[in-house]
Amino acid sequence: MPRLKVGVLISGRGSNLQALIDAAADPTYPAEIATVISNRPDAVGLVRAASTGIPHHVVADLDRAAFAAATDRILGEAGVALVALAGFMRILDTAFVEAWADRMVNIHPSLLPAFPGLHPQRQALAAGVKFSGCTVHFVRAAVDTGPIIAQAVVPVEDGDGEDSLAARILAAEHRLYPLAVRLVAEKRLRIDGNRVLTAGAAAPGIAALNPTENLASNRS
Ligand code: GAR
Repeated sequence: MPRLKVGVLISGRGSNLQALIDAAADPTYPAEIATVISNRPDAVGLVRAASTGIPHHVVADLDRAAFAAATDRILGEAGVALVALAGFMRILDTAFVEAWADRMVNIHPSLLPAFPGLHPQRQALAAGVKFSGCTVHFVRAAVDTGPIIAQAVVPVEDGDGEDSLAARILAAEHRLYPLAVRLVAEKRLRIDGNRVLTAGAAAPGIAALNPTENLASNRS
């Protein structure tokens, strides 16, 4: 079976790109990274693509429509069937988003629809939630919206700052994104309005409590 060709859009570090590259290194993984596009020339993710021999491009147009046109051309030439935004921090042209609707996914470090936009980990700490996490979703025009494919729940610990929470969530992102892309590649997903139904999927049979119930008793 031919593998699904994925085009990854990045702006920086590219650790989620790396997670997808690592997953695709397994020949049984049903997707491959066909091209990487960065809007920033200094994105570390470009080095990751280069060292794996993946074609990579910088599209630095400031004009949103020009960026979309150049990106669309590269994706088309690479035969890309799925666009994966991985730490891509530019707002995309609406016509581009509509053209790729249901063929473009994003990962965001919160349990959407909570904490969209910038600094989601800071937002989670400020809100005092006991759990946050990450979300992979199909992309719609409004920032960080669209039918949710998969989520991972990550506990917030009392001593957390933004960096420690971000690192804990990032570790979950690196598991979740390859899983979600695999589900797309295996054509397991059906979009029903705002919901995504996954053939053969099972939800975990847990309800996690934070703090847990087995706290040491404080009565003296
Ligand atoms: C990740 O945490 C990703 O979820 C987030 O940026 C980070 C990129 O890290 N994306 C967003 O906030 C998009 N709204 P990476 O470059 O190492 O993958």
